[in-house]
Amino acid sequence: MSKKEPLPTQMPRERAFLIGVEIRGEEGLLPLEESLDELALLAKTAGLNVVGEASQRLENRNPKTLIGAGKLEEVEALAEEMRAEVLIFDDELSPRHQRELENVFTDKVRVLDRTALILDIFAQHASTHEGALQVELAQYEYRLPRLTRAWTHLARQAGGGGGRTGNGGVGLRGPGEKQLEVDRRDIRRRIDQLKGELEKVRAHRGRHREKRKRARIPVVAVVGYTNAGKSTLLNRIAGADVLTADQLFATLDPTTRRVELSGGRVALFTDTVGFIQKLPTTLVAAFRATLEEISEAELLLHVIDATHPSALAQSEAVLETLADISAEHIPMLTVLNKVDRFADDADLAALMEDFPGGVQVSALTGAGMEALLDAVHRKLYESFTEVSVHLPFQEGALIALFHEQGQVDKVEHTRRGVRMEGRLPGRLLARFMPFETTNVIEVLEEEEEDA
Ligand code: GTP
Repeated sequence: MSKKEPLPTQMPRERAFLIGVEIRGEEGLLPLEESLDELALLAKTAGLNVVGEASQRLENRNPKTLIGAGKLEEVEALAEEMRAEVLIFDDELSPRHQRELENVFTDKVRVLDRTALILDIFAQHASTHEGALQVELAQYEYRLPRLTRAWTHLARQAGGGGGRTGNGGVGLRGPGEKQLEVDRRDIRRRIDQLKGELEKVRAHRGRHREKRKRARIPVVAVVGYTNAGKSTLLNRIAGADVLTADQLFATLDPTTRRVELSGGRVALFTDTVGFIQKLPTTLVAAFRATLEEISEAELLLHVIDATHPSALAQSEAVLETLADISAEHIPMLTVLNKVDRFADDADLAALMEDFPGGVQVSALTGAGMEALLDAVHRKLYESFTEVSVHLPFQEGALIALFHEQGQVDKVEHTRRGVRMEGRLPGRLLARFMPFETTNVIEVLEEEEEDA
């Protein structure tokens, strides 16, 4: 469907049947049932009508159809009974699984997986040019090895940007005949073209970031599990106009706002894409725009929906993803959001055992905002940490920064640069990390040089 065609206002919502699988020894962060509940929420966000679900615990994946033959028969019968039009697996299907399952369900029922569903939601929510390009690229890269009839719905963006369709579920609807002709070669060409376009957009963003760096305004990235309340929090503290919705992945494009902290100091707060368990890293990496904001931040605000039954597992999923993108060393402040929903103080006390040091807030009512901004101020400007670094001469800017904003105890010139010891504000630590003298690589290099 071309972007310009008017969309019917009331499309019947497609009927989706969900299937969860747990392989022994590969249990995820969430138990099977909860992961399936999350998939149902994802399906709802994509505009689908969930009509039923099934699950299976397996010793091993069936190489052909993922689930066992008996289970498959059961699912076929149930899907028919429920008049399901789409079948969604909670785990990523291999290209072979995809093909075999499509042979079983033929044209009657389309087969999708969690990743394809998330990509579809991303496509509905991308509102900037860069976001739309990223989604289109991720969709094609995902689709290329799985090029079969059922996947052609992903081709709806071929030749044009993505963008908000404003019509839940339309992305999951069947393909036009013309799109069936899109072959691998065309997709590869489009992938190259998209990469080129993205490079240009990114160079432009890079220039903006350089400017910010020169202005030395600290950047605080707001991270968290999807639906934790990141956008609501940013709106609350910055008066920003960021889309908030009780949906997964309402925010796809980073929004940056200037916020005044105590004492007249300012920081830039930036919203980021929500994290979710079972989100393949390659997919996360596709959203580099957001991730670059994270990796260059001086402080991370980790927003947690404290009222969620799986708050702890969700927070672990976030920490794992941060480690995947090498952002785990950035100082972090844990924000326990939605505390307005707690009727009982005992629940809150139990929560603090899981998240000691967490700042309790309600982005909705505004409770705890002052304490939060104070804590941000303290983390950025008051907490100093001992460091010992070996800065190569090329890093003149960092040498100057240490002198300017840190407390220097010792300076020693070496053949390769300057060794500096002293104390640095927490917000600058991440930038100096690669040059820490405890950095094993450097020690090894020096040993080699000495030998
Ligand atoms: P993604 O875009 O999916 O990553 O979500 P997000 O983390 O940006 O969440 P968002 O701000 O869109 O909020 C999700 C839902 O939680 C919305 O319905 C909000 O109204 C609700 N919410 C956010 N903060 C609070 C809070 O402090 N209390 C309560 N009760 N609800 C909240």
